[in-house]
Amino acid sequence: MSDMLGHREDVDRVLIDEKVIEKRLDTMAEEIDREFPAGPILAIVLLKGAFVFAADLLRRIPRPLEIECLNVASYHGGTESSGSVKFLDHVLPDVKGRHVLLLDDILDTGRTLKAVADRLMLDGCAAVHTGVLLAKDKVRAEDVQADYVGFEIGDEFVVGYGLDYQGLYRNLPFVGVLKP
Ligand code: IMP
Ligand code: MG
Repeated sequence: MSDMLGHREDVDRVLIDEKVIEKRLDTMAEEIDREFPAGPILAIVLLKGAFVFAADLLRRIPRPLEIECLNVASYHGGTESSGSVKFLDHVLPDVKGRHVLLLDDILDTGRTLKAVADRLMLDGCAAVHTGVLLAKDKVRAEDVQADYVGFEIGDEFVVGYGLDYQGLYRNLPFVGVLKP
């Protein structure tokens, strides 16, 4: 295929293909629906990386659901974590008393999920349940786990299905590794 799918020629190998992701999301959505307390879910989607994952996952959850998005930045364009998490929104969603499903694309150092989950708890939410498409198998800077993990991957830099390198490749329909 040509570069219609977003610079496919820059990709060294496909790590998780579209069909495999779709099947896994079916199961994750079932798990979430089964395990979440009764009542509407408040999903909080971390932008931009989680938007593709969230769109596909949340449409599989057959119950009342509100969706909020949070703009946070932890990476600043490169492949190394900057170590700081910035909240970029002026107003954060009202989470008081809510069970939140917090979604991110990938659990790497854990700083992002930890910082956001802590903030939501400070803001009075009842509980934060975390979900990520990918979790890197590594020692994390923060002792944090996700309640729902799509796939465990090795400690390498990946793109596609929402994940970027310098703003690009988010529209690849699969998760892959770039050429060096
Ligand atoms: P953490 O705070 O180190 O866990 O990093 C989480 C954020 O870093 C994610 O939301 C991604 O935006 C970014 N990130 C971490 N690893 C990768 C990767 O392999 N590819 C693309 N983005 C990544
Ligand atoms: Mg990113």
